[in-house]
Amino acid sequence: MAASALLTVCVLCAATLRTGFGLHTVSAIYGETIDIPCGRGQEKLDGLLFGKWKYEQPDENAVFVATRSAVKNRTSFDDVPEYNGRLDLSENYTLSISNARITDEKRFVCMLITGENVFEVPTLVRVFKPPSKPEIINQPTFMETGKLNIVGDCVSKDSYPDANITWYRNGQVLLPIDGVVSIEWSKERNSTSGLHNIRSSLQYMSTKNDIDARFSCAVTYYMPNGMALMESDPVIFDIYYPTEKVTIHVQSPKKTIKEGDNITLKCIGNGNPPPQEFLFYLPGQEEGIRSSSAYLINDIKRNATGDYKCSLLNKVMIASTMVTVHYLDLSLTPSGDITKQIGDSLSVSCIPSASKNVSVTWMKVSVIPFYGRHKHLLCTQI
Ligand SMILES: *[C@@H]1O[C@H](CO)[C@@H](O)[C@H](O)[C@H]1NC(C)=O
Ligand SMILES: *[C@@H]1O[C@H](CO)[C@@H](O)[C@H](O)[C@H]1NC(C)=O
Ligand SMILES: *[C@@H]1O[C@H](CO)[C@@H](O)[C@H](O)[C@H]1NC(C)=O
Ligand SMILES: *[C@@H]1O[C@H](CO)[C@@H](O)[C@H](O)[C@H]1NC(C)=O
Ligand SMILES: *[C@@H]1O[C@H](CO)[C@@H](O)[C@H](O)[C@H]1NC(C)=O
Ligand SMILES: *[C@@H]1O[C@H](CO)[C@@H](O)[C@H](O)[C@H]1NC(C)=O
Ligand SMILES: *[C@@H]1O[C@H](CO)[C@@H](O)[C@H](O)[C@H]1NC(C)=O
Repeated sequence: MAASALLTVCVLCAATLRTGFGLHTVSAIYGETIDIPCGRGQEKLDGLLFGKWKYEQPDENAVFVATRSAVKNRTSFDDVPEYNGRLDLSENYTLSISNARITDEKRFVCMLITGENVFEVPTLVRVFKPPSKPEIINQPTFMETGKLNIVGDCVSKDSYPDANITWYRNGQVLLPIDGVVSIEWSKERNSTSGLHNIRSSLQYMSTKNDIDARFSCAVTYYMPNGMALMESDPVIFDIYYPTEKVTIHVQSPKKTIKEGDNITLKCIGNGNPPPQEFLFYLPGQEEGIRSSSAYLINDIKRNATGDYKCSLLNKVMIASTMVTVHYLDLSLTPSGDITKQIGDSLSVSCIPSASKNVSVTWMKVSVIPFYGRHKHLLCTQI
């Protein structure tokens, strides 16, 4: 069985050689050298006079490019501008074309001429050009959550044949999804070079999950040994999202605020970028005061105790905090100028008035005999 199959193959080989049926394909990379062998071993044909190479034009007319004499061991090249200086024809009749171009994609035919016969071996030449490394251009500096954002255009240039672009998010392929992922692509062919430029534009509905997400694109293209893939550098976007919560807190010199302190109310929104302006509401006031995120109160008074609030400018999301201003007054009773007879006694008390229970051990209660003309009395906190 195997032997008969082999025989069939061999018969076919001979037929190929004689008639030109069946086509060899030679694949080459753009810019490199294309080696097109003239079949296998037939250059040792008996009575071989010379070998010639031609290519076929679309109109099926043939153009001869090179000839090698089997007898004189000499080659000559025809004057074909496209191939001037690019051809070589070795002793085994392999035609070499240097600096491969897209226009070299043709059917080349090796002709072996003996005294009685002409054998033709056609070969199809294919040329492949890997594209440039894909690049993401026109990308914005940030993406906003909840809307379709332009991610950018992925461009890859000068491929042959054409190529495809795929988008990735964290290495996962992005496929079009209505309202979430929108991909538009375009291809153009440079008629001078025959090379293709491809561009793919991605629009993407971002969410907070896209913070630190890496977007990249890759170009898939054909090479002689199959498909190849080349990736772009990834891009990361600043993700803008709205404030969902505001918080307010008080910055004061000490943990407890006392009368005369300078305090700052600080309002913070958790969006990105953080909101820069807020409305601050003082205790009992309906109308907000527009301010940056810091609202300063200098020399705070005891009557400033109360609920302080802040909100975004659109008045939604209100945060509040209680501010208690502590104070401690010490007062003499009686106070002012008191006229007494010398020798009389005066009962003076020092009374604290404070915002919280003051653990004063004792205030001076003095019974002072007056001898001089004037006396000043002071009382202090112990
Ligand atoms: C043919 O010529 C080349 C040099 O042009 C030489 O190297 C080669 O040996 C020759 N081959 C034969 C079979 O004479
Ligand atoms: C023909 O000769 C070249 C070198 O001159 C060699 O590289 C190539 O393999 C040969 N091809 C065949 C089919 O023998
Ligand atoms: C590009 O995509 C088209 C359609 O999806 C497909 O037919 C073609 O084979 C692809 N080409 C490459 C190079 O991936
Ligand atoms: C087309 O290719 C030629 C040759 O490579 C180049 O000079 C020209 O700028 C290209 N044209 C366009 C529109 O890219
Ligand atoms: C409060 O601020 C004012 C002006 O900025 C300053 O003169 C004063 O010393 C500050 N008071 C305190 C208690 O730090
Ligand atoms: C608080 O008291 C100060 C004097 O200590 C006064 O100027 C101010 O108007 C008072 N503020 C309120 C809201 O009553
Ligand atoms: C302060 O003192 C009053 C009466 O002496 C008492 O009823 C109240 O509970 C005290 N408050 C605190 C916070 O200790």
